[in-house]
Amino acid sequence: MTTPPPILDLSQMIERHRPRFRTASEFVEAALREAILSGVLPGGLPLRQEELAAAFGVSRMPVREALRQLEARALVEFHPHRGAVVVEISAQDAADISAIRAALEPAALRLSLPHLTRDDLALAADLIAEMDAEADPGRMGELNRRFHMTLYARAGRPRLLALTEQHLAAADRYLRFQFAALAHHPRSQDEHNALLAACRNGDADRACALVTRHILAAEELLTRFLTVRAAHSG
Ligand code: NI
Repeated sequence: MTTPPPILDLSQMIERHRPRFRTASEFVEAALREAILSGVLPGGLPLRQEELAAAFGVSRMPVREALRQLEARALVEFHPHRGAVVVEISAQDAADISAIRAALEPAALRLSLPHLTRDDLALAADLIAEMDAEADPGRMGELNRRFHMTLYARAGRPRLLALTEQHLAAADRYLRFQFAALAHHPRSQDEHNALLAACRNGDADRACALVTRHILAAEELLTRFLTVRAAHSG
């Protein structure tokens, strides 16, 4: 295992981002985000606060703040002994979770849909509106999970719902990565609106087809992004 010197590779991104940001932590976050998403900083790489502070010419406080923001975007993870580490995004793991979601969620929706109340549908609509206004990816993931679970909640199958929620939660880091990498948000919201409309119309076939497509489309986008990135980084 070799550990590439991360700081040298960052100089381009530092110069590109330096003039655009008001605060030091915004500048550090933007440069690191680009470096992680482009693969310049590979998954598993430890990010040492002192080294980053020296490379960016800032104190450790904005570096720490930037790393917390990147954690919220699922680009960085904090390990008990190693500190901040670039997150490892696995296309295979994402595909595995998507396949399970695509099996469970339409099944839960089909059972739940005939029993959804006006209040359930109103809550789902509120959650879409909240997602429209939400900029924080961590909160966005939670709202997305609640939106989906609201539509499945009347399935009357506690085990199915527990498994469904577990895999929605597992998908969360990939969804957050996607928000950061692909600006996936507007398309995903169109899909949420179409799904809710089908539920309102009581059209189970259409609703199930839409939720399946919603899950698989997100996975295809992520896979394509990772494939292109891998090709570029040789
Ligand atoms: Ni969704």
